[in-house]
Amino acid sequence: MIQVQNLTKRYGNQTVVDHISFEVREGEIFGMLGPNGAGKTTTMEMMEGLRDSDEGKIKIAGVDAKKQKKKLKQQIGMQLQSTSLFDYLTVRESIELYASFYPHSQTVEELLVAFDLVEKEKTWVKHLSGGQRQRLAIAIAVVHDPKVIFLDEPTTGLDPAARRSLWDIVLKLREEGRTIFLSTHYMEEAEILCDRIAIMDHGKILALDTPRELIRQLATTSRVEFPLIDRAYDEKFSTLAGVKKVVRLEKNLIQLHTDQLAETLQDLIPLANSYQFPLDGISTRTATLEDVFLEHTGKRLSQ
Ligand SMILES: Nc1ncnc2c1ncn2[C@@H]1O[C@H](COP(=O)(O)OP(=O)(O)OP(=O)(O)O)[C@@H](O)[C@H]1O
Ligand SMILES: [Mg+2]
Repeated sequence: MIQVQNLTKRYGNQTVVDHISFEVREGEIFGMLGPNGAGKTTTMEMMEGLRDSDEGKIKIAGVDAKKQKKKLKQQIGMQLQSTSLFDYLTVRESIELYASFYPHSQTVEELLVAFDLVEKEKTWVKHLSGGQRQRLAIAIAVVHDPKVIFLDEPTTGLDPAARRSLWDIVLKLREEGRTIFLSTHYMEEAEILCDRIAIMDHGKILALDTPRELIRQLATTSRVEFPLIDRAYDEKFSTLAGVKKVVRLEKNLIQLHTDQLAETLQDLIPLANSYQFPLDGISTRTATLEDVFLEHTGKRLSQ
């Protein structure tokens, strides 16, 4: 549904999107995951025809996004990172206004129901909660029934309940057969929603695959973490069964990367006993996308 080749954007001598290429399949939720300044919004706005690119090709639903901007607009819906809505219009009036821009649109009633805004139809935009506002922004983005929808950090700043309700909406949009391209810096969101994810940092795509495959490709599948101020044993940890890597994290946290969790723990406990260091606060877990990000960039994706 989307083909991007060699897409590049420069500001002065800084390359903020650096020759990226990827494809998005019809009906999938494709996520772009990266920290602040990675180049997500710039990429999306070039795809949406809102910013000019310096190099590269973009094709969306058969339309050349650089040359056929008018045609592109009919195919795509977009919720921008800072959608401007009119404070003194009601929810219903806002949807009606945007619907009036298009010859064919979904009915206001359909949209109010689909986006759980029926109770708020007469409320001014100004008085909506963050989650309701975001639902309205997406309702407006799909008013003309587009095939492809762009959502730029749709849940940033929302509380967990509002975030979950928005996830349901995004999943529903996919059920309707739409293709969704979203950006996020929430790992959990990417893992739950996205069929495939591109991990982006400094304008480059560092990895691209399904969440499960990205995690599977990590060198080790499990993590053991515990706080330990004393650094005297760090070298010993790398000799424990299964341990491939020992990492010092913030707050004196030590992290062991292992493929054999049980064996590592069986070795660790006698070591702690003989050297008399505490294992209070120890935790074990399976690797997540956070670990994928850490492996590719050397840093955590702070939330
Ligand atoms: N109009 C502009 N002029 C100069 N530099 C810009 C412009 N727009 C973006 N940049 C720079 O491009 C880089 C990428 O910005 P972009 O907004 O695409 O990042 P992002 O991944 O969307 O970040 P965030 O998660 O904060 O939204 C940043 O370093 C930013 O400062
Ligand atoms: Mg952005």
